[in-house]
Amino acid sequence: MSLFDKIDKNRVPTHIAIIMDGNGRWAKARGLERGEGHKEGVNAVRRVVEAATKASVRNLTLYAFSTENWNRPSKEVSGLMDLMVYAISRETADLKKNGVSIRSIGDRNRLPEYARTALEECIRETAGGTRLTLILALSYSAKWELSTAARQIASDTIKGVIQIEDIDEETLGNYLTTRGLPDPDLLIRSGGEQRISNFLLWQCAYAEFYFTDTFWPDFDEETLYEAIFEYQKRERRYGKISEQIERENNNSSH
Ligand code: IPE
Ligand code: IPE
Ligand code: MG
Repeated sequence: MSLFDKIDKNRVPTHIAIIMDGNGRWAKARGLERGEGHKEGVNAVRRVVEAATKASVRNLTLYAFSTENWNRPSKEVSGLMDLMVYAISRETADLKKNGVSIRSIGDRNRLPEYARTALEECIRETAGGTRLTLILALSYSAKWELSTAARQIASDTIKGVIQIEDIDEETLGNYLTTRGLPDPDLLIRSGGEQRISNFLLWQCAYAEFYFTDTFWPDFDEETLYEAIFEYQKRERRYGKISEQIERENNNSSH
């Protein structure tokens, strides 16, 4: 029996974020170049997007390239950019057909122009999709995002667009690249490491974390449903105590 049948369709996370890690080690274990792992990783992306859509997940954020990843050998960086452009161009029609709209978070200005153009074209083409929003984190880091937001808030305050007393959590949220999106309910990291690597620090304040040793190229529909299944066993208390949560759940079910 697939784990799909075991997950509660009424309590599927609204937003899942994934740190797609382990491509290099997957390739190394097979005596292949790291680039082969990245290529295989694209197939895993396709599987997971399909599986998420099938489970009615509304928002899926994939960490594809971090600010720190610019420090990798230039051959790997350019290989990843080429692969992204290839994958985006190849998949756009299917994404559109399946009701997936693409969005990106991160410093788009650092992407080479041909990659930025391909990304923007895909965002335009898929804008009408309403089943799933697929957010690609490219040249993204949370510290970049938060410091950029701080700069913009300071600038808007000086200009009088906003007042100092009005700056609250909601204001800050509106200056982040994720504005308008719900915070992730579930953060998954493949590849065995248990760290956040500068991803969505603000937005994951109350996310449930799920770590798996599976390398990203081996990640499939079942791995995703396993993570959702585990997530559904957790009790999200948001600082309260269990009895309060139970009472709230009972009240809302009557
Ligand atoms: C994740 O896989 C993909 C990117 C960071 C672009 P890695 O390339 O980090 O794979 P490992 O961690 O070296 O196995
Ligand atoms: C995190 O993976 C970034 C992405 C998955 C895109 P890394 O492999 O770069 O993370 P660290 O540096 O090992 O923490
Ligand atoms: Mg890695």
